[in-house]
Amino acid sequence: MGMESTYIWMDGKLVPYEKATVHFMTPALHYGAGVFEGVRAYPTDKGPAIFKAREHARRLLESAHILGFQDLAWSVEDVVTAFRDTIRANGFSACYIRPLLYLAEGGWNLSAEGGRLSLGISAWEWPDFHGPEAKAKGIRAMVSSFTRLHPNASMTKSKASGNYVNSLLAKTECARHGFDDAIMLDPSGYVAECTGENLFVVKGGVIRAVPDGGVLEGITRASLLTLAQDAGYAIEEGSVSRDQLYVADEVFACGTAAEVVAFREIDHRRIGSGSAGPVTRALQELYSDAVRGKGRRSPEWLTYIA
Ligand SMILES: Cc1ncc(COP(=O)(O)O)c(C=O)c1O
Repeated sequence: MGMESTYIWMDGKLVPYEKATVHFMTPALHYGAGVFEGVRAYPTDKGPAIFKAREHARRLLESAHILGFQDLAWSVEDVVTAFRDTIRANGFSACYIRPLLYLAEGGWNLSAEGGRLSLGISAWEWPDFHGPEAKAKGIRAMVSSFTRLHPNASMTKSKASGNYVNSLLAKTECARHGFDDAIMLDPSGYVAECTGENLFVVKGGVIRAVPDGGVLEGITRASLLTLAQDAGYAIEEGSVSRDQLYVADEVFACGTAAEVVAFREIDHRRIGSGSAGPVTRALQELYSDAVRGKGRRSPEWLTYIA
């Protein structure tokens, strides 16, 4: 995966990629004291467009607020403008966008009080998170031996950098066992989310979303619920147990990076037909159209770069 770009946006300046560095004594590096987003821009008939730019910018600032970062120097509109400037400067027609708002100075007493914050934004071309065949074939997952974060131990509504050590443990474990992704259970033993995606199960024609109480409130999750509702599917939110995954007709994950991807196997048990099922495929198509300016919801969800 090439993550290079010509420029990275750093505190309002477009800095050449190789010069976009931070000092070893950056506290965010030591304590995970930063918050980030994953955003995508897609090609459309009217040039590149960012999917749900304001929702991502808002979540970035809310993540910072949850961590107790104060006096943020950026508004939602400032962040969206910076996304657009970054994409324009790099000339991408489609890309993944990664803003990171981090404690650049201070915080050595383990308090965010009085520290200096910085905002950086990089972008790179990242067409397929799970590889080109994953969408049709589905991926293989295991339930992780690592428990997902407890909402009162690490704030799960914040995309805080430090929270991702939990994801890294689970993803590394699953990769070493030969799986594509890890499904994480919450501290009560019910299904929480994947390392960077939310989860849905389909049984008897009903789409069930794992409740958002203890997990990151995914922007893709919310979009799929809207698209599924528009398309007339029966939808519910409710707890999902590990064995409910095994006997589901379909299980799929969704997130900005991975988009919509089915599980063909979980813990060595085949799920449904063993490939992406009809509901997952229908939602993949609706989502793909929406993000590329071809869906009914596209006008309200896209921010064009031009
Ligand atoms: C832990 C976690 N859950 C869910 C998601 C999906 O969120 P979104 O659809 O907003 O990308 C992500 C990705 O941001 C994530 O990191």
